[in-house]
Amino acid sequence: AAPVIAIDGPSASGKGTVAQRVAETLGFHFLDSGALYRLTALAALRAGVALDDETGVAAVAATLPAEFPGDRILLAGDDVTEAIRAEEIGVGASKVAALPAVRTALLERQRAYRRLPGLVADGRDMGSVVFPEAPVKVFLTASAEARAERRHKQLIGKGMPANMRPLLQDILQELRERDARDAARSVAPLKQEEDAELVDTTPLGIDEAVAAVLDIVRR
Ligand code: CDP
Repeated sequence: AAPVIAIDGPSASGKGTVAQRVAETLGFHFLDSGALYRLTALAALRAGVALDDETGVAAVAATLPAEFPGDRILLAGDDVTEAIRAEEIGVGASKVAALPAVRTALLERQRAYRRLPGLVADGRDMGSVVFPEAPVKVFLTASAEARAERRHKQLIGKGMPANMRPLLQDILQELRERDARDAARSVAPLKQEEDAELVDTTPLGIDEAVAAVLDIVRR
């Protein structure tokens, strides 16, 4: 079977960027599992399905008409690459992600990404549930303060005007709440697996974080 590198960790840890760069370096496929939860939330909202309707949202997830041409993300042919990154879709994603039937509905779809020459899988439960037998597991994290600062910088980078930007302290508060919710939920709670290597990116830039993960892969 194709090798899997499972990269899990909290929001705004730099996981997505690092995982993608590791996949490019190795020439591996890349799974952004968070995008599937975001797509499920968006598709449910568009279909008028309430985000707490477990059966309804699971049906949406099971038949998600999503395609990933190049670096674009399509939902029923509609380009939603930017739309799924909206804050309210992130909140919606974390709501539907707490529903066991939704997680089950997305399981096989995620496992299908495992193809030669290999896969880098980014998420919360890659090493625990989706690919428990992955030969390499990384838990990528950073202090809440560092993650809040990165989120804040991202918003500046996106050109959000200063008077519309949330305050750093509010972002920090929101991250802490999301961390607590992700860690407390009954299905696939966010935690470091015993066989996962910890990479704390608090003092690291992107290049250094990518190098740290590649070091683990190559040993
Ligand atoms: O970038 P950010 O961490 O905010 O979001 P994401 O990685 O796109 O994931 C969005 C939401 O989906 C997270 O808040 C998680 O609650 C959920 N998720 C999950 O439960 N399991 C995964 N494998 C990936 C994401």
